[in-house]
Amino acid sequence: MADSTDQAQVLELEDIQGTLLRQRPSPYTGTYFLLRVDDPAHGRQMLGRLLPHVASAARWWDPPSRAWLSVALSHSGLQALGVPQASLDSFPEAFREGMAARAERLGDTGESSPEHWDAPLGSRDVHIAVSVFAPDTTGLESLLEVGRSALRDLPGVQMIYRLEASQLPTKRTHLGFVDGIGEPDVEGAGVASILQAGRDHYGYLPGFGPTIKAGEFVLGYQNQLGRLTLMPQPDVLGRNGTYVAYRKLHLKVADFRCYLKDNSSSPEEEELLAAKMVGRWRSGAPLVLAPDHDDPDLAADPTRANDFTYRDQDPAGLCCPVGAHIRRTNPRDSLTDTIVDVRIHRALRRGTTYGPMLPEGQLEDDGAERGIVFIFMGADLVRQFEFLKTQWANDGDFVSLGTEKDPVIGNNDGTGTFTIPRRPVRRRLKQLPRFAITKGGEYLFMPGIRALTWITQLDT
Ligand code: HEM
Repeated sequence: MADSTDQAQVLELEDIQGTLLRQRPSPYTGTYFLLRVDDPAHGRQMLGRLLPHVASAARWWDPPSRAWLSVALSHSGLQALGVPQASLDSFPEAFREGMAARAERLGDTGESSPEHWDAPLGSRDVHIAVSVFAPDTTGLESLLEVGRSALRDLPGVQMIYRLEASQLPTKRTHLGFVDGIGEPDVEGAGVASILQAGRDHYGYLPGFGPTIKAGEFVLGYQNQLGRLTLMPQPDVLGRNGTYVAYRKLHLKVADFRCYLKDNSSSPEEEELLAAKMVGRWRSGAPLVLAPDHDDPDLAADPTRANDFTYRDQDPAGLCCPVGAHIRRTNPRDSLTDTIVDVRIHRALRRGTTYGPMLPEGQLEDDGAERGIVFIFMGADLVRQFEFLKTQWANDGDFVSLGTEKDPVIGNNDGTGTFTIPRRPVRRRLKQLPRFAITKGGEYLFMPGIRALTWITQLDT
């Protein structure tokens, strides 16, 4: 397998969509649009109008607009835009099938199954996904106008869905946690360039772990297996693209709060239990480094908040339970005795929140729609997103927890358990319900900018 001492590759940042390699700034406000293409020529014309506004990883966050736009396409969308059949056939099976078709294996069952999803999510009508984000409503409005102009006089393209997603005033997710801390360091991307000064003599950033080959996230580069990840054809279409798992996850905030209360004897214990479930305090401070009390100063320091491992610092999970959300979804060094290489199961996350906050302290559900638009990006949907969901989130075998699932995102059904290692005896919580309900999802392909140009020039 490739390691970080192999020769670094130069990424074509001008051609890679910015969302893939760059964290969105805080605060943010934005909208996701889904479009259906009934006329391929109109679809291509619309894409052509959007193209100059697609943010690249090189020109990310350019003034004066301080707003950015990204475009991704479903398999049926590529077809609707007139991409030739040979090319459509060259995409991997999971992407061709789409997320809804793979619901069973992803644990999208019961309340989360596609028959309950918000229309048109999961249908073959979702062709183009456009996201526009800005730090404020003025920046957002300028891009919304770009979108409106792009659609003008093109009846062959219909906007079929929109979802507003703005950062909450708390700058946290609905469950009260800071998110977006654990992030892989992509070779050549400068993901954490602000922290460059903190690199140790191996070239590692504190807490980012070994730098990961760009081919794990961007098509056309060498991956951790020392190979080029298979690309859709022709090369111009595949290169600098990536796959996106887009999920709308409704959060049962009141149920989460009640569960904490019912299983704790004080507000302090509720906080500790919440932290045990996630692996971090709500501030973001990791339990491995702050096992007994929250440490907001630690949480606020990006060179320390992610600078921990499990194998030496917390092998038995006495600080961060082995079944906690962040330990399952990125076990770091704790699986080094197994054949599993954690580095081939990483991906980039760009989640946003939607819906109003449930007022602080309220324990009754108010019926409002609220949650996370979860965006997971990487070069291989199966060994990254699907592996995390099936092997790590919805199965406990890899950490000797049998059928126990992720306490936050697992597809629990009210009979779930969550084990908290403790001395002299562990604690086992019972009757865990499902806190995150899937309201829809799509597998999308986010092409490079040259690839988008190629599509606009098709004459099929
Ligand atoms: C309802 C949905 C979810 C919520 C509320 C949630 C919440 C969180 C929180 C609070 C963190 C800690 C902050 C951080 O390290 O960045 C985190 C980290 C993470 N989550 Fe989630 N998450 C959700 C869904 C998912 C899903 C569906 C996956 C993957 C299939 C996932 C994968 C991860 C990963 C990989 C990390 C970083 C772990 C690390 O590097 O230490 N999350 N999540």
